[in-house]
Amino acid sequence: MDLPPVGLGTMGLSDPSTVTTAIDLGYRHLDTAQIYENEGIVGEGIAAASIDRSELLVATKLWTDRLAGDDVRRGTEASLDRLGLDRVDLLYVHRPRDDYAPDETLPALDAVRADGLTAHVGLSNFEPAQLETAREHLDAPIAAHQVEFHPFFARQALLDDAQAHGYPLVAYSPLAGGAVFEDPTITEIAADHDTTPAAVSLAWVLSHDNVVTIPKASSPTHLRANREAAALELDAAEIDRIDAIDREEELYPE
Ligand SMILES: NC(=O)c1ccc[n+]([C@@H]2O[C@H](COP(=O)([O-])OP(=O)(O)OC[C@H]3O[C@@H](n4cnc5c(N)ncnc54)[C@H](OP(=O)(O)O)[C@@H]3O)[C@@H](O)[C@H]2O)c1
Repeated sequence: MDLPPVGLGTMGLSDPSTVTTAIDLGYRHLDTAQIYENEGIVGEGIAAASIDRSELLVATKLWTDRLAGDDVRRGTEASLDRLGLDRVDLLYVHRPRDDYAPDETLPALDAVRADGLTAHVGLSNFEPAQLETAREHLDAPIAAHQVEFHPFFARQALLDDAQAHGYPLVAYSPLAGGAVFEDPTITEIAADHDTTPAAVSLAWVLSHDNVVTIPKASSPTHLRANREAAALELDAAEIDRIDAIDREEELYPE
């Protein structure tokens, strides 16, 4: 699976036309989840776009109450029904808690993959030891690990695992939900490049090997700008300055 550097995060999106516009602007990786309660909206947006389904990478996530044995299949089928699709490209375990049991959940994911309901299996919000355990129970390779990753919160151990095992780390909340826009280091670097703090934050995220990202955006201006940010190159000194920002802010702790 070849995830593009910038995909679309859809948490909070409630207008299908945003998804259609994103596809028109070149977005190919669309990320939703059962808990966002907008799989239907995303499906409507895809249906309205003039694009072949095979060009899109659609990802959704099973919430923590859909992870026990048979619930995996039922939950996946319900997601496909809402999306109006016969398969997704990437099906994640959203969080390894509540009904998550590696020896039950992961074989059930292998089974829905074998039956073609998803092309790939992904994990989200796992700790390194949980990734190791998952590898013992999952026949499919881990196709992606989606985790919070932005200038105020980045976990080197998770990046190390992705790089060692050769799967993409999908960086969520790459703008820290907007918190990076006020940071003095990021605004200074943005001014030096005559660009925005959003672009600098995305460029910093994408400067790491094996990392792709899924900023959420609503307006065509933001959608366009975020894809263009992939072309912004920060030099090593700028990356060091952002690495040195002394803020530890996790938006989605367990
Ligand atoms: N796996 C998980 O547990 C998990 C958890 C959280 C999020 N996620 C995924 O990650 C995606 C992104 O994370 P997020 O929604 O938390 O936050 P984010 O992408 O860090 O930030 C989104 C915010 O930034 C604004 N924005 C986007 N592009 C901008 C630009 N170029 N200039 C100025 N403002 C801009 C958006 O405003 P507008 O909407 O007005 O454009 C929105 O308010 C989610 O949608 C979801 O798909 C996954």
